[in-house]
Amino acid sequence: MIGGLHKQFLLLLLWGSLVVAVKDYLFKTCETAGFCHRNKYFAESVKNQGHNFIPKYSISQSSISIDEVLNSKVIHGNIIKFIPSGNHITLPFEISLLDGNNLRFKVDEKDRTSIDTTKLNINTHRYNETSDWAFVSAELPYLANDKFTIDLKNDVLIITYGDAKQYRAIVDFWPIKLTIYHKDKIQIIANDKNLFNFEHWRLQDENSHHLTEEETDYDMFEDHFKDSKEDSIPLGPESIGLDFTFKNFQHLYGIPEHADSMNLKDTTESSMPYRLFNVDIFEYETDSRLPMYGAIPFILASKPEISVGLFWINSADTFINVDKTTNQKDSSTHWISENGIVDFIITIDKTPADINRNYGLITGYTQLPPLFSLGYHQCRWNYNDEKDVLEVNSLMDEYQIPYDTIWLDIEYTDQKKYFTWHKEKFPNPERMLDELDHTGRNLVIIIDPHIKTGYYLSDELTKKKSCINDASNNSYHGHCWPGESVWIDTLNPTAQEIWDAQFTWNNYFLGGQSSNIFIWNDMNEPSVFNGPETSAPKDDIHFGGWEHRSVHNIYGMTYHEATYNSLAKRNEGHTTRERPFVLTRSYYAGSQRTAAMWTGDNMCKWEYLQISIPMVLTSNIVGMPFSGADVGGFFGDPSTELLTRWYQTGIWYPFFRAHAHIDSRRREPWLAGEPYTSIIRDAVRLRYSILSVIYTAFYESSQTGIPVMKPIFYESLSNIESYSIEDQFFVGNSGILVKPVTEEDAKEIKVYLPDNEVYYDYTDRSLSKINAYSSDKPGYLTKSVTLEDIPVFIKGGSIISLKDRYRRSSRLMFKDPYTLIIALNKDGEANGSLYVDDGESFDYEKHEEYAYIKFNYSNGKISADVNEVKDRFKDSISDVKIEKIIILNESTTGTVESIIIHNPKLSISQSWTGKIEFVVEHDEL
Ligand code: NOJ
Repeated sequence: MIGGLHKQFLLLLLWGSLVVAVKDYLFKTCETAGFCHRNKYFAESVKNQGHNFIPKYSISQSSISIDEVLNSKVIHGNIIKFIPSGNHITLPFEISLLDGNNLRFKVDEKDRTSIDTTKLNINTHRYNETSDWAFVSAELPYLANDKFTIDLKNDVLIITYGDAKQYRAIVDFWPIKLTIYHKDKIQIIANDKNLFNFEHWRLQDENSHHLTEEETDYDMFEDHFKDSKEDSIPLGPESIGLDFTFKNFQHLYGIPEHADSMNLKDTTESSMPYRLFNVDIFEYETDSRLPMYGAIPFILASKPEISVGLFWINSADTFINVDKTTNQKDSSTHWISENGIVDFIITIDKTPADINRNYGLITGYTQLPPLFSLGYHQCRWNYNDEKDVLEVNSLMDEYQIPYDTIWLDIEYTDQKKYFTWHKEKFPNPERMLDELDHTGRNLVIIIDPHIKTGYYLSDELTKKKSCINDASNNSYHGHCWPGESVWIDTLNPTAQEIWDAQFTWNNYFLGGQSSNIFIWNDMNEPSVFNGPETSAPKDDIHFGGWEHRSVHNIYGMTYHEATYNSLAKRNEGHTTRERPFVLTRSYYAGSQRTAAMWTGDNMCKWEYLQISIPMVLTSNIVGMPFSGADVGGFFGDPSTELLTRWYQTGIWYPFFRAHAHIDSRRREPWLAGEPYTSIIRDAVRLRYSILSVIYTAFYESSQTGIPVMKPIFYESLSNIESYSIEDQFFVGNSGILVKPVTEEDAKEIKVYLPDNEVYYDYTDRSLSKINAYSSDKPGYLTKSVTLEDIPVFIKGGSIISLKDRYRRSSRLMFKDPYTLIIALNKDGEANGSLYVDDGESFDYEKHEEYAYIKFNYSNGKISADVNEVKDRFKDSISDVKIEKIIILNESTTGTVESIIIHNPKLSISQSWTGKIEFVVEHDEL
């Protein structure tokens, strides 16, 4: 350990410099992670035995019962595992059906009663609470009885479900298999390759009676990996493995976080399958399956007719091997987790958007963020003091760059003690917050989960037993920014109470009565500088007696959720800025409900700009749309060209923040000089002009799970070529298609137009003279570009609502008028939506104070459907006008006719109560 410690401290010293790239030797591979090694060995022996392989698992028909749950039915039964001693192990299973075609399968191990618990400090059950954290509600949306049928036969169980009973799940008892059909076509098979492996509890000295012939005992009771040799592995081997074949699917997406392509790669030849294990990965590399800060064990498989979603509900260290080579048609995945239970959900539906909706029914949809948080965030490590903050604030105005939020990194604190201020640098936070508030601006400050030892907060956490404990059940001590620290255990309800108390209005720390302060949660993997694989030891203990091993991947989420809860309690009823905003680095499935995420410590290099797009797209595919990458790159100093191109890309990230490492040179937009500063300013202003579009996309995502930064293939499912396009995207359902320039010194780009619709070129934004492109089939368009250009297209058939005036922040734009762009499709029609609320409070939820407007253009008339708008909200927006309407129409000659209507007369056919229609009357229509 001393050697390990020493090395880690060296690492800490090197943290600030740019000497070496990712230290991948710090991280386990499948070979060096005992549980992955064993499952890989198991997979190889099953494969090598071919037809001679005899599966050791069987479902006992007589054990099956069909039980009533609420107004549904749940199937219970036992899987029997045969072991060499002649004995067998009982593994109870449960199958349930949930709304959204979600079929859930769970397998646990019968109470491990023979474990001598007197010698252990831990809970000896298998961890089965991941779903409690991941699911949006404890009340599961069980599918009503009359929506499915169960047919139990001698050696098979058949469940028929879905609209018109179009899905059929067949469970074979031996060999065990779950096959799901859509109509008569197989879509997915669980345990297709017989890789189901469930390491049950056994005593070390009896191990030989428990090992089946396919198994190796490699690192079952000890860990040979250099930095985790001290892992006591108190419960021995507990891993689980299972394979899933996606039938006739070659395109799989998801399982972030990796700095990798959107379309998952085949990993059969690699020693490094995709790994999900939240870690603080220093100077990560691109094109890599190494683990990163967050984990969402969800895969989307898509093809033109149908899509499948697979959610592996497990929070332990997990490897996923992807095999696309078997027959060039199917994709097979092998999931291996260190411990916990087998628990997965499969949903099948027509489109990827349907899968997003179905998955969101289980884990929840993204929060509707406060509007300010969709504006421009200005961050660096660090803004030094109050003067610095306020100078940046006023320079933004001098250069007429809109922005909403300035951020403070760890140096604002007194010696990295969170909930304290550095008194000399920030003598009066309230004054600073007030000054920011004058122009509607906000402050975000960082608060990490490591709490420096020797001050009131760590003392209280320790006293109230609300820290993560070590294997002997004493508060775990490790090293992070403040030096020696303890870690708050946010699985513990007492920790939430302690946290809440830090966020009250009486706590001067949060700037007295200021309401424009929000929180950034970093290092919550958790990052431990002297810990194994830069994190907490796996035999650390959390509330409930759970080993850290079991909860590792959800810890980050429990932490940012605790922060969200504390802010929500603080704000409730006290401020118009009621909606909390929390940024997290570590996340899990369900994090979308309470936080935004960013992709951590990238570098000032073109390949990091490029990879940020598939990374953010992947996050959107797996239900976590509020995501972005550090604009400019974290480590190093970007060239002015790279910085400019990064802004032009970053304005499209759902979360748009510029950030930089403490050792990098200052790079606020005005420092780039002309022409860069003006180009950056124009890019930021473009973001603000489409803020309503982005906010509407978030609203729709918060209702249906639709991505905000949406992959191209979502709108061109019949076109397989579009399934791999990952350097361009749509903004929600708006019809805005973007292909940012991410190559150095680019003179031209190729834009993929995925269908035969007309696309209006919005790149130079002067809509009086505009090009449109359409052809009979999808294909690439070559377009020359200059540094000023951000290639943007509006798809025919869309209606976009813009706010064009420059304001200093989003708050000041509230009453600004709209411009509507109506981009007609080939049939001369268009549709679009606009969501408006106060952008700050929960009144949209509590009192339905919002307007959701669906515009339509057909037969030369514009109309709009609006929900029943509540009086109070109606009053607040009554003087918000549509000042201009621009109609784009590609004429038969291929030129675009644009009609611009200034100050259109809106005649509203009824008063603003109930569902109304309003019609724009204008002679030119
Ligand atoms: C690591 C984070 O990823 C980075 O964004 C931050 O600036 C540093 N921690 C310091 O807090």
